[in-house]
Amino acid sequence: MKESILIVDFGSQVTKLIARRIRELGVFSHIIPFSDISKKILKEKLIKGIIFSGGPKSVDEKKAPKISKFIYDANIPILGICYGLQLISKQFGGTVIPSHDREFGKTSLEIKKKSPLLQNAFLKKNNQVWMSHSDKVQQIPNNFEKIASTENCEFAIIQNLKKKIFGVQFHPEVVHTIGGEKIINNFVKKICGCKAEWNMKYFKNKIINDIKNKVGNAKVLCGLSGGVDSTVTALLINSAIGKNIICVFVDTGLMREGERKEIENLFKKHFKIKLKVINGSKLFYDKLKGVSNPERKRKIIGNQFIKIFEKFALTQKNIKFLAQGTLYPDVIESLSKIGCTTVTIKSHHNVGGLPKKMSLKLLEPLNELFKDEVRKLGKELNIPDSFTQRHPFPGPGLAIRLLGSIDKKNIEILRKADAIFINLIKEEGLYDEIWQAFCVLLPVNTVGVMGDNRTYEKICVLRAVTSVDGMTAEAYQFDDKFIKRCANEIINKVPGINRVCYDFTSKPPGTVEFE
Ligand code: XMP
Repeated sequence: MKESILIVDFGSQVTKLIARRIRELGVFSHIIPFSDISKKILKEKLIKGIIFSGGPKSVDEKKAPKISKFIYDANIPILGICYGLQLISKQFGGTVIPSHDREFGKTSLEIKKKSPLLQNAFLKKNNQVWMSHSDKVQQIPNNFEKIASTENCEFAIIQNLKKKIFGVQFHPEVVHTIGGEKIINNFVKKICGCKAEWNMKYFKNKIINDIKNKVGNAKVLCGLSGGVDSTVTALLINSAIGKNIICVFVDTGLMREGERKEIENLFKKHFKIKLKVINGSKLFYDKLKGVSNPERKRKIIGNQFIKIFEKFALTQKNIKFLAQGTLYPDVIESLSKIGCTTVTIKSHHNVGGLPKKMSLKLLEPLNELFKDEVRKLGKELNIPDSFTQRHPFPGPGLAIRLLGSIDKKNIEILRKADAIFINLIKEEGLYDEIWQAFCVLLPVNTVGVMGDNRTYEKICVLRAVTSVDGMTAEAYQFDDKFIKRCANEIINKVPGINRVCYDFTSKPPGTVEFE
């Protein structure tokens, strides 16, 4: 076990970025909801420093989350961010008030006093920091001192050097805070004394060991989707328990062109791992018949997967676990555990679509990682680049890219158009520059003319985005000629489509997928 930083989550939308920044420094971190913090965690996880995240509540609200005194008495350095700073102030006897001028976005910070937290991070004046708060500290507790202010917030950084407790009102974990990563570096390495011992190789071995300990002699059913995440999950489990992994690929009839063949080749021929393919296509189409609500589609698909897995598990001896390639952002965007926080944007099928009662226990070894980190882990596991660099594909498949109700004919149209678009992108050498590209089919017909005939067919939307982790995204800027070529080829080669559009929406306000 290596030393690590504990991130106490109070429900901020950007808590995960704190974890990521710390990993980038080569140090491991754990995000744990404030309500689950115990003395045992501090000891067992070799915690050398604690960061309180931001959060949506006001510290003076009745049900505002608090932290037990033992954390402050543990003699471990603490950094409070936003709500974290306000909570520290309140719990040590200071006061917090609603701010007349709420601050959201970039603002300028002025340093009033030197601090080990700020070494090489900021100039004396005009430092750009990113704020997102409606409350502020009015009076700091005894034994704390003011380190920096902004125009609207006198106590933008405070500290109690003796106790090694620090608080910042802005978000150093967000890239818009220039010098933010230095603050996190100073806290983690200089103040907490953590060494850079964490890397993907270490993490790979740790996950493999954790799986061994958790699973013992039981068997694990690993659901494959054809994507990077479930492939990496399967290889980790295979390294941990060898023949006790049973890999299952359910062909939902909602996959991309050639997907089933590719996954069969990769597992059977390349990795030499046994693979059971279950044809579930009819079942999925039956269950999705007439369903157009995206959340219902996702829930139905998630439930169907579990039913198939559970049924299959009954035919085998001693399967106790179901493994999935759930990533950290899937967990966060689907639902927050901690009762006071974030809104559900979409139910990711492998998180939000699970039934409450399941006979198999879940095994999700990647649920603390971001996509680009999973790709690095894939490299460490010798997965071919052509596979680790594949664009993400959502668990519910083409069902959430065919808007409106699902039918086989339209899925087929969408699949063909998608294959043309992706192949043209590959031909043009653009595939690796793009985070994700795909086609969407709209559930309306438009009028067109082909030859001497009138057509009345569907609209295909092309979507291509750049992103770092799928949490935010920008539309990819193709040149016009290329887009026109895609439109022509799709309309010429795919009966059923007579119009092609390009989507320029970024995330936010859009999402990557349409549903
Ligand atoms: P959104 O549409 O939420 O997508 O902006 C962000 C990233 O997540 C992928 N995605 C999913 N992946 N199951 C998955 O495994 C899902 O249900 C799901 N929904 C979205 C999406 O493709 C994008 O990369």
